[in-house]
Amino acid sequence: MTTLNLQDVQGIVFSGYNKYMSCSSYYLLQINDAKKTKAWLKNLLDQGQITHGEDKANDSTENRLNLAISYSGLEKLQLDEASLNSFERSYREGMYSAHRSTLLGDQDGDAPEQWLWGNKANSVDVLVLLFSKDASIHAASQKQHQAAFKKAGLSIVWHLDAGEKRQDADGFAVEHFGFADGISDPIVEGFPTASGAAAIATGEFLLGYPNQYDGKLTQIPISEQFGTNGTYLVLRQLKQDVAAFWTFMDEEAARQGITADYLAAKMVGRWQSGALVEPNQDTDPKTVSNDFDFSKDPDGKGCPFGAHIRRANPRAVGLGTSDAESLTVANRHRLLRRGRSYGKALENPRSDDGQERGLVFICLNANIERQFEFVQHTWINNVKFAGLYDEDDPLIGRVGNFTIPDEPLRRRVCGFQQFVSTQGGGYFFLPSLSALGILGNS
Ligand code: HEM
Repeated sequence: MTTLNLQDVQGIVFSGYNKYMSCSSYYLLQINDAKKTKAWLKNLLDQGQITHGEDKANDSTENRLNLAISYSGLEKLQLDEASLNSFERSYREGMYSAHRSTLLGDQDGDAPEQWLWGNKANSVDVLVLLFSKDASIHAASQKQHQAAFKKAGLSIVWHLDAGEKRQDADGFAVEHFGFADGISDPIVEGFPTASGAAAIATGEFLLGYPNQYDGKLTQIPISEQFGTNGTYLVLRQLKQDVAAFWTFMDEEAARQGITADYLAAKMVGRWQSGALVEPNQDTDPKTVSNDFDFSKDPDGKGCPFGAHIRRANPRAVGLGTSDAESLTVANRHRLLRRGRSYGKALENPRSDDGQERGLVFICLNANIERQFEFVQHTWINNVKFAGLYDEDDPLIGRVGNFTIPDEPLRRRVCGFQQFVSTQGGGYFFLPSLSALGILGNS
């Protein structure tokens, strides 16, 4: 049984604050004066402004703040050489590097050279995540923090204001294509919400604890005190073309004699309500559950093999010689998702208004290569995933082909455009509070 020092772990590890913080903003910052930045860090800690795992959901605090640092940020803050070198290679190289961007499929229009931030020209050292209870509190908090950034020698490279969260009647966030989001997240050993035997090892999401892969301690920076209770944070600004998505669904559904909602649900793997797509279903049953492992749908006649959620987490089918083995393998590649949508909802989802909107995709993992990069490269982008041969993820991929297993014949949906594109991104380290203290006091 793992007992965590919750006060040492940043709060975002345990919760995306969705239930009680309706607004959020993400500041991507560059350090211009390390001494001032260190003083700012120390001050944030001294004032108890960095949210940790024991801050209660219903306390009177109106804001939440978490903070992550890129490799260049740790270099500028003069972390010792041995510790710097002991970080995982992907983190040291950065998401924009040639090798990582090829692996992630960030090519052509998605290539780092085209990004708004996070590439060589607009590199980022620090990420500040701000959350507030409502819009006016959020505006005041942003003003105060922006002034503090200036004093701390931090310039704003990019600012993603996610504004007020859109949510459905069940309290789930709704992403811009109109689907309930934030439903499936791993249950993690030692986390306050963990229950029972199905929990994933703590070392998948926090450095310094045994992992799910081989039971060993997840690699920590050479200074144990600096690494333990920290984790990696992956952020990608993913722009969504909502009008293109729904216009295509209408046209293709009419051609195939099905409904647009049915086609879109097959691509996601869940209906808009969040209910799993099951065999012999034509409409949304609106019964949201995460209690399934695809073993009742081994042929993909409910949730297609190529659907977004089945690629992102294949669960108990297709990765081993038995359901149990498949589940074991799938659980070595789990992500804790903590992102939110940015930009205003499109009023008429079939008619573009020229404004940018999308997802601030954020996931936490203790091993970027085995978790985030593996999921993106080997499952989402893989054109040969699960016996398929010329298609990637229909929701967020680039190929534009999709197969829906059906009786008597499978359905093929071909030649559609890309609906999601990468606008920026970065790999960050989300240090423990004690590690932030080491940096602030150095
Ligand atoms: C604009 C981009 C994206 C959109 C609109 C999107 C949308 C969704 C939706 C609607 C769900 C189902 C609801 C839920 O289980 O929470 C989902 C699940 C998920 N997505 Fe995405 N997603 C996007 C990008 C990504 C990326 C880049 C990754 C990882 C590389 C990813 C990984 C996952 C995972 C792991 C799940 C949960 C699967 C499960 O355990 O059932 N998503 N996504």
